[in-house]
Amino acid sequence: CPLDYSGVWRFRQLLPFAPDDQIVTIGEGQTLLQQSNSVAKYVGLNEGQLYLQYEGLNPSGSFKDNGMTAASTHARMVGAKMAACASTGNTSASLAIYAGTTKHFKVIVFVGSGKIAYGKLSQALDYGATTLQIQGDFDDALKQVREVCKTAGIYLCNSVNPFRLEGQKTIMYRVLEGLNWEVPDWIVVPGGNLGNSSAFGKAFMELKELGLIDRVPRLAVINAQGANTLYELHEKHGLCWNGGKPDAELIKSFYQKMDDEDRRASTLASAIEINRPVNLKKCLRALDFCDGVVREVSDDEILDGKSQVGAGGFGCEPASGASVAGAKLLREQGIIAPSDRVVCILTGHQLKDPNATVNYHSGQPAPEFQNAPIPVENDFEKIMEVIQGIA
Ligand code: F0G
Repeated sequence: CPLDYSGVWRFRQLLPFAPDDQIVTIGEGQTLLQQSNSVAKYVGLNEGQLYLQYEGLNPSGSFKDNGMTAASTHARMVGAKMAACASTGNTSASLAIYAGTTKHFKVIVFVGSGKIAYGKLSQALDYGATTLQIQGDFDDALKQVREVCKTAGIYLCNSVNPFRLEGQKTIMYRVLEGLNWEVPDWIVVPGGNLGNSSAFGKAFMELKELGLIDRVPRLAVINAQGANTLYELHEKHGLCWNGGKPDAELIKSFYQKMDDEDRRASTLASAIEINRPVNLKKCLRALDFCDGVVREVSDDEILDGKSQVGAGGFGCEPASGASVAGAKLLREQGIIAPSDRVVCILTGHQLKDPNATVNYHSGQPAPEFQNAPIPVENDFEKIMEVIQGIA
């Protein structure tokens, strides 16, 4: 794939660690920024002020490809024979597609045995990754894979890998490009392991330092209520970057309490079902630099937000709906103004988790959001009756 076709590597002057002939690319980053007035209305913004950044349009269907092209490139540069990751589903799908198509290394992915969406699991299996389903959740799987990689000399592709974040910076370059380099007021992003939010902060720090932008947007990181470590620590306990020295005692005692209570992350947005975000410290830095806020939203709010993206755009997976739900909440709280220009990052494709979508529409959302399949007899007259009813 030509380097300038990639939405990541056409910005390679801003991620200058890789010689051109070592770059591993499958044409990632051909994504789209789309204005949505129906979602703007739902969120409570003035017409024209809400944008959706569709990262689900990447080859494996999520934003992860932006980072995985960079991590795969670095793995190739250091001659890795094998790479691994733990995943709630999208990281594994992404790593698997890079390994499967380029054959530079073999892949082992660790997933939890809980809620991984079948769209994602099926990708890892189809692309040929050895898939270990750990009896535990994502946090357990990540702990194991880090230990395994260290012991066995396997290349680790989770977002603790700094090259992942280098690639993910380009999401912000493309957003700015879509806005003719006019800086928006807000970037709203779901928070799981906090790789994206950290990468976005780094992107803005560097762009400002280079004089390519003169101000930075505010950053809003949105947790699911059932996986809200960042929200709890940043908003409730006042944890902050503090010049590079966030309160280590506070973090330690928070996690200790979590262990004592055996508190597990739990949300229908399985992609962000994470209680121990590895990029916590880097994200605090991004929040500090971008005058950021953190919010938590319920599963119902996430699914309602997702349904609005489906009704007024290309759709997204549940975790991505958190950004729309978070923007709505911040608007209701008066923190986002109606005239602000807001970009919601949609991290994963609509088809990643079809069960969640069908269950939502067949369940009991607010009637204005519902679009359940209509049962009808296998009979021409009956079908016509239903159609006439709708018309
Ligand atoms: N949205 C989607 C669709 C995701 O898959 C993830 C993370 C996030 C948001 C959160 O992003 O970690 O940068 O804060 N998924 C990882 C995975 C954990 O294993 O696929 P983050």
